[in-house]
Amino acid sequence: MAVENFDEKINILEKKVKEAVSRALDLVRLDEIRVKYLGRKGELNDLIKELPGIPEELKAHNGRRLNSVRNDLENLINKKSVELKDKFVEEKLKKEGIDVTMPGRSVSLGHLHPLTKVERRIEDIFQSMGFSVVFGSEIESEYYNFDALNISKDHPAREMQDTFWIKNPKSEIQNPKQHLLLRTHTSPMQARYMEKNNPPLRIIVPGRVYRHEATDASHEIQFHQIEGLMVGEDISLANLKAIFEEFFKRFFNKKKVEIRFRPGYFPFVEPGIEVDIKLETGSKWLEVAGAGMVHPKVFKAAGYIPGKQQGFAFGVGLDRLSMIYYGISDIRLFYSSDFRFLKQF
Ligand code: PHE
Repeated sequence: MAVENFDEKINILEKKVKEAVSRALDLVRLDEIRVKYLGRKGELNDLIKELPGIPEELKAHNGRRLNSVRNDLENLINKKSVELKDKFVEEKLKKEGIDVTMPGRSVSLGHLHPLTKVERRIEDIFQSMGFSVVFGSEIESEYYNFDALNISKDHPAREMQDTFWIKNPKSEIQNPKQHLLLRTHTSPMQARYMEKNNPPLRIIVPGRVYRHEATDASHEIQFHQIEGLMVGEDISLANLKAIFEEFFKRFFNKKKVEIRFRPGYFPFVEPGIEVDIKLETGSKWLEVAGAGMVHPKVFKAAGYIPGKQQGFAFGVGLDRLSMIYYGISDIRLFYSSDFRFLKQF
């Protein structure tokens, strides 16, 4: 083999490797190059195997040459490997890094439902007048919703409040304390509270109630009431009038709110009344509550001795008050979950 040829072979190999390394774009490719040229079965080792065949006087020179080329190329590949690693990390950071100078996404805060806001205001006012706030269950028994309130089975008032009954798996159960329904008013808490507490007492009971009836702008199958109950030795409708005057004045932020009691009928009060208010002189009367003096039969069912105490009860429509307060014309909006509506409060 010609001497120039062997020198030339080394040069060509060196050039090929340098070119390949400069074109390598990633570490996988770089490793392929290392294996192909400098590996155990690589092209450089092929040349070393040819060494014994070249003239004796050139062996030393070419041997050294091959060694130094191997060193150079190994250094070159190592350097390139470091470069590629740096580049990889840099690109990864660029892709996945967090730009701390970017403005954050604004988090929009929610707020209370208008009915909740009104309910809390009402609670505040009554609490300041010495009333406690208590809550009852929305699933109620026939007994507390009707019987304990002097509404017997055949009483026409049962039809006044169309009821959602809860199917009992043991449908033969006729015990009114086990026969369940969705409460049609908050009045059952009158009976429940008096069973457990002695007079004098002053409570309000805010809560959701249900009636099985057609919906329209002023009727929903679910709505809210605030029950009131004040019992003592000589509580009368005059007390109710004074409390209502104070309450409505503060609720509507007015110097004075006119109040009118009209006769009304509810089996659990005697006499029963309907309460109207007038917010401005000249404006029309608005019906806002049912009320009356607690019926002796209700006291008796709760275990009180009749004649020993008297008191008034009332039921205010929370949705109705909220509609008047905010000027809302359709009760169904409260339950629509419509963001355009809710955002206004
Ligand atoms: N519970 C009655 C209703 O739902 C309202 C009411 C409460 C009337 C208390 C009188 C006394 O209409």
